[in-house]
Parts: sequence; C-alpha cells; structure tokens
Amino acid sequence: MKKFIVEGGNLLTGNIKISGAKNSAVALLPAAILSDDFSTIYNVPSISDTHNLIHILELLGCEIKFMDDTLVINSKNLENKVIEEQEACKLRASYYFMGSILAKFKKVEMFFPGGCNIGSRPIDIHLKGFEKLGAKVTTQGNKYLIEAEELIGANIYLDFASVGATINLMIASTKAKGITIIENAAKEPEIVNVATFLNNMGAKITGAGTSTIKIEGVTSLSNGIVENIPDRIEAGTYIIIGALAGKDLVIEGVIKEHLDALLSKLKEMGVNFTILGNSVKISKGENLKAVNIKTLVYPGFPTDLGQPVSVLLTQCNGTSLFEETIFENRQGHVPYLNKMGANISPSGQNLIVKGKTQLNGTDVSSTDLRAGASMICAALVANGKTTIEEIEHILRGYENIVEKLQQVGAKIIIEEKV
Ligand code: UD1
Repeated sequence: MKKFIVEGGNLLTGNIKISGAKNSAVALLPAAILSDDFSTIYNVPSISDTHNLIHILELLGCEIKFMDDTLVINSKNLENKVIEEQEACKLRASYYFMGSILAKFKKVEMFFPGGCNIGSRPIDIHLKGFEKLGAKVTTQGNKYLIEAEELIGANIYLDFASVGATINLMIASTKAKGITIIENAAKEPEIVNVATFLNNMGAKITGAGTSTIKIEGVTSLSNGIVENIPDRIEAGTYIIIGALAGKDLVIEGVIKEHLDALLSKLKEMGVNFTILGNSVKISKGENLKAVNIKTLVYPGFPTDLGQPVSVLLTQCNGTSLFEETIFENRQGHVPYLNKMGANISPSGQNLIVKGKTQLNGTDVSSTDLRAGASMICAALVANGKTTIEEIEHILRGYENIVEKLQQVGAKIIIEEKV
C-alpha cells in the first residue's frame, strides 16, 4: 500500500505536459481487437487502467508492443476467451470488450465490470442496445452471456446520453449487417476519438460528436491508427491546481475547446489565466467570487471535475452551490475536506460550499479516483503536511502525477506504507 505525503502552501511554477486521455485510451484498446491486423495507438498514458487492459488483450491472444507512449497491437491471433473476473473487475472500461468481442465473435461472456464506487452505475442501456442489434442477453451469476446468430443494424434511442453505452454500441454495430442509428448519443470528445480509430480501420461511422451517430456495417476491418486525445480531466485538474497554488503555471498540450465549461467558471470566479495556443497559463486566484456549478453531459461541466473544483470553491468568498446531476455518490471527498477546515454541507447529491476557508494538512484518504485528485488539490493549498491514503485510485488515472507536480515545485512524495 502506498501513500502520498504533501507539504502544502508553496507556489507552483513551470510547465506541466498533459498525457493522453484515460477515458479515450480505455475504449481505444478494447476497440483495437476489431482489426484483423495491426493497430497503432499514439499518446497512450502509462497508468494502471491501460496496463490492466493491455494484460487483458494479451490474455485474448494479442501481441503488444508498448514503447514510450505508442502502443502497437497485433490482433491476428485473437481468441474468444472469458476474461477472468479478477481482471474484468479491476476497471469499469472492461465492459468495452462486450461490444468488441460481440462484434468479432457474435458471442461474449463477461463478468460485471469494476470501477469507482460513485453510484449504482447500471449498464442496462448498453444491454438494451445489444438486444436491439439482435443479441440475446442472459445473466449467469455475476456474468453476462451475450450472443447473436447475426448482429443486425437497428435504430437505438438511448434513455440517457451515456458515454459508455454510446461507445459500446458504436463498437458493436461496426460489423452489424446494415445501418445502425444511435439517437440521444453522448457527445464527449472521447467518442469522436474512438469513431476516428474505427473509421481508420475501415468502419463507416458518421455523426460522432453529435447526438445522432450513423454506423453502416462492414464485414471486416484492417490496420488501425489513431492519436489519443489529450486528457481533458487531467488538464482540468492541473488547471484547478494552478488556480489554487500556481504562479504562471503553464498546462501544456490541451485542447482548449474541451475545457470551455471549466474555463468559463474560472473566469466567473475571477481567476487569472491566459490561453496561449495549446497551453493555459494560470496563477493562484485572489479575492475569488463564489459561483454555482452544475455538472452536465458534454459540453456541460464534467462530473469528473466536480470533486477537484469543489476544493477551489472553498477558496471563493461567499456561498457556492455545486449540483451533481450524473452520479448519485460523488461526495466521498467531503468529510476529508471538512476535516481539513472546509465548510461544505451535502444536500442530496449537491454541495453547499461556504468560503473562504483556510485548509490545514491532516490525514485523509482517496475514496475514488477524482476524490483522490481533489485531496491532492486540497493538500497543495493547505498549511502543513497532508497524508493521502488509498492512492491506488489516483494512480489509475493520472500519469506520473508525482513527477509532474515535483517538476513545478510541489513538495509531494510517494511512500510505501508499512
Ligand atoms: C464515463 C467515464 C466517467 C465519467 C462518465 C460521465 C469512462 C471509462 N468513464 O463513465 O469518467 O464520469 O462517463 O461523463 O469513460 N447509466 C445508466 N445505465 C447505463 C449507463 C449509464 O443508468 O447503461 C447512468 C449512470 O449510472 C450514470 C449516467 O448514466 O448515472 C452516466 O453514465 P455514463 O455516461 O455511462 O458514464 P460511464 O460511461 O460509466
């Protein structure tokens, strides 16, 4: 077991380079098996989620080369094996193998996926979509069996614009017979990234990034190549750290449009930042104003930045209302922030944050990935030493976080727990 020790309160200066997106990579890797040949994915982050997926790809018979941040997958000898439960439940995104193995073999057996405990997280929309494509879905203990004689294109209306369901159904229908239309599709940039990858292999997908995606089925897919997009959630986390503790901190390699919802809130608070091409230069905000934030599907304010931004709200003067509309249980960070000196009252899924409050270092824990990120944000602005436990969650999603922060002057070390 590892923990972070952070000595807070000093200003961070220099450059932080953003890695490839976790949420895109975790879909691109399972999608790669649709190719009957080689796939190349650039800008893959070296985080535990991608390493776990690489391990699953190897179990399925793929040959992998991972050099620097380039991943080459040879899926010529792919076999339809059941992914062990202990592998499937290490991360949420193992469920993308449902779509890709189903498309490839017309039959898949999958254990329930894992991931952060931030709500009940059903996958009924995925399963209903597979059924619309002609598959039969049965539950056997804690495993799904999904099979079809033939996948046939269909009109699928998603009850909710789910990111996971949109990607999974897009993957599954790539090789279905005829045309599939996904309506009320999610519009997140990661979906466009996956569609680009599949199209490069020979798929016929149009409309990704809008609420209607059209997929014309093809019979086979060959070499695929794609550049993973920059991680907008990692970028947003470091931008928030800049607003808390930066002094001309430069966050490099971002796509500004992916961050508009966050940047517009920072502007409303009165945070000082400038956009320089693909970089954001940001400094610690003084006399910040309280603002109201509501999480929404893209291009709204991302739920994944809710926990980090709530730390920034503790540094704003006045009362802020933070409304979480996507997941019912994203409040694991609140008791720890209050222990550090924040004044946050949960109200249902929402938070009422009263500021400005001085945060003080203490012993805290990461209850999930983004709650852990919020602990780092808080520790960097707090007086004194903070010890963060259960950092395995954080390491699932933030590449080289210790090195990146140390490079800009943060006092953070990783320690093996005895
Ligand atoms: C993805 C992201 C996650 C992000 C979330 C919302 C990955 C690996 N994870 O998660 O970081 O927080 O999008 O931007 O990309 N729902 C159902 N039934 C379903 C599917 C979803 O009820 O079949 C509900 C969920 O419980 C949740 C909401 O829809 O309340 C959104 O879920 P979804 O967009 O699917 O999120 P994920 O793909 O799990």
